[in-house]
Amino acid sequence: MKRTHHCAQLTSADLGATASLVGWVDTIRDQGGIIFIDLRDRKGITQVKLEPTTNAALAEQLKHLKPESVIGISGTVARRPEGTANPSLPTGEVEVDATSLEIHNIADTPPFPLDDVGGDKVNEDLRLTYRYLDLRRPKMRKNLLVRHRAAKSIRDYFDAQEFIEVETPALFKSTPEGAREYLVPSRIHAGQFYALSQSPQQFKQILMVAGVEKYFQIARCFRDEDLRADRQMEFTQVDVEASFVTREDIYALFEGMLKKVWKDVLDVDIPTPFLRMPFVDAMNRFGVDKPDLRFGLELVDFSDTFKNSAFKVFQATVAGGGVIKALNAKGLSDITQGETKSFEDIAKSLGAKGLAYIKVEGGEWKSPIVKFFTDAEKAELTKRLNVEDGDIIFFAAAPWEKACAILGRLRLESAALLQKRGKLTLRSDDWKFLWVVDFPLMTYDEAENRYVATHHPFTAPVAEDAQFLDSNPKAVRGQHYDVVLNGMELGGGSIRIHQPALQKKVFEDVLKIPQDVVESRFGYMLKAFTYGAPPHGGIAFGLDRMVALLCGTTSIRDVIAFPKTQKGQDLMAQSPTPVTERQLKELHIGVVMPE
Ligand code: AMO
Ligand code: AMP
Repeated sequence: MKRTHHCAQLTSADLGATASLVGWVDTIRDQGGIIFIDLRDRKGITQVKLEPTTNAALAEQLKHLKPESVIGISGTVARRPEGTANPSLPTGEVEVDATSLEIHNIADTPPFPLDDVGGDKVNEDLRLTYRYLDLRRPKMRKNLLVRHRAAKSIRDYFDAQEFIEVETPALFKSTPEGAREYLVPSRIHAGQFYALSQSPQQFKQILMVAGVEKYFQIARCFRDEDLRADRQMEFTQVDVEASFVTREDIYALFEGMLKKVWKDVLDVDIPTPFLRMPFVDAMNRFGVDKPDLRFGLELVDFSDTFKNSAFKVFQATVAGGGVIKALNAKGLSDITQGETKSFEDIAKSLGAKGLAYIKVEGGEWKSPIVKFFTDAEKAELTKRLNVEDGDIIFFAAAPWEKACAILGRLRLESAALLQKRGKLTLRSDDWKFLWVVDFPLMTYDEAENRYVATHHPFTAPVAEDAQFLDSNPKAVRGQHYDVVLNGMELGGGSIRIHQPALQKKVFEDVLKIPQDVVESRFGYMLKAFTYGAPPHGGIAFGLDRMVALLCGTTSIRDVIAFPKTQKGQDLMAQSPTPVTERQLKELHIGVVMPE
């Protein structure tokens, strides 16, 4: 039986035609001996009518049929009886009066419902164990399609801009400066290892030295990180590098790409250029370097107001070089004790000594610390935080970065609670893109007692700041940029260092990496740069994150066909697994099990 139409194709224009359809049995209904099957393929559903009463062979076949079985049918397209049309389906006015049925495979009963609503309610582990069934659900099928369309749109865009896609190795070498790596033992070189590529960063820079000028790649990357909703150990980057470009060129290039993807996939016009926000402003106002701009609740600095406060915690913090920041969680004075406790726990997990707060109810400010505040201080709070009845103000007194981070998290938690209470609406299709720029090039690592690269060691300093690399590294801004959408970091990149002497100086003098280590890790790159390296820069985007946002889901697992669980397992194929002694021996590996 050869398929003539797919299951979303037949309409009343085809009445009387003969048709053969194939697919999965979505539902079976027996109505007084007449059997109705909703037949489903990847395009949609068509109703099929079978009358076994007049056909003994058919009756015998139908006895065994169960939902999710795979069948083919042939028959005539007919109009559904008056009053039984389904206007929500493109094929809803017709049915196929089937005269023959071919059963390809009888299915066992699936372990969970395969519709969107029922499937969403089951435990994700079960869905991942039976991923082939989960992917039959319309929603998941749509997610795969969106991912395909987005990737196609991206490839078309870069092709039109004369970028070429170049594949780079997944088996790379260990460069412990970045995230934790996956090591791959070499059989031929005993005791030596490859590392799976965390990103094509070094290769794409080398491609610029090679004169490629415009490179892109939809590249698989591997990082041994703790997994979260927006993080997988294996993920996909849209990776780009170009020569003779400035930051402005990259902004325009990527705004163009995002505009095209949103148009192609969602038919939405996103306004460009995007807002640009210096890192310091993002931290000061939103307490995070990836602000969600769909709502306000901005942080306000009151260090000046409280530098002589009678509340000793505040006064001492400012005297010690720290700051006092406050967040008015507007309308959240009905926060419960349990919720307050979890806010305190969050603050403490981020290094807060405590979490002072004031509830404003019935015109009264309720808090053990209010007694320390002067009328002028209260007036200042009221004015700058627009304090009204029903509000709750949270305070963080801490070093700047810590105070920002604490209130930044509580801002998000407050928004989540306000949403739960119906006092705030955050729509997944309210697209608030921005560039976060002017990050510090270096961050001081207390544990290691040295500077580390805020992003990676290849980022070029902002030209006018480069002179401070020796005297005051933390004052040097990097030519780095992140693109952020609704609180998610979508991508990041930079203009790179292309002068070998400056790159060597950053490795050795600023990052304090010993010369022999620099030579063994990056020597090949420094050498390549001595043969004519063009000025260059680029960016990498998380394709999984972008598709998740396009699909309106917060978990990238929903847009990856076969993701790992939070514990890094593939529940379907069941990995990781132990391997044989023989395999280990061949790889010169001995395993020491943890106690
Ligand atoms: P970065 O490390 O910021 O930059 O990565 C770029 C983007 O990749 C995505 N991403 C991830 N997505 C899912 N799971 C993960 N574990 C994960 N880690 C990162 C994010 C992120 O913004 N080579 C540089 C880019 C450059 O400088 O050009 C790089 O890899 O969306
Ligand atoms: P104390 O006087 O130490 O009992 O603190 C009074 C209130 O201030 C309590 O609610 C503490 O949780 C809170 N608090 C203490 N230290 C800080 C801080 N560094 N930032 C914000 N609140 C704090």
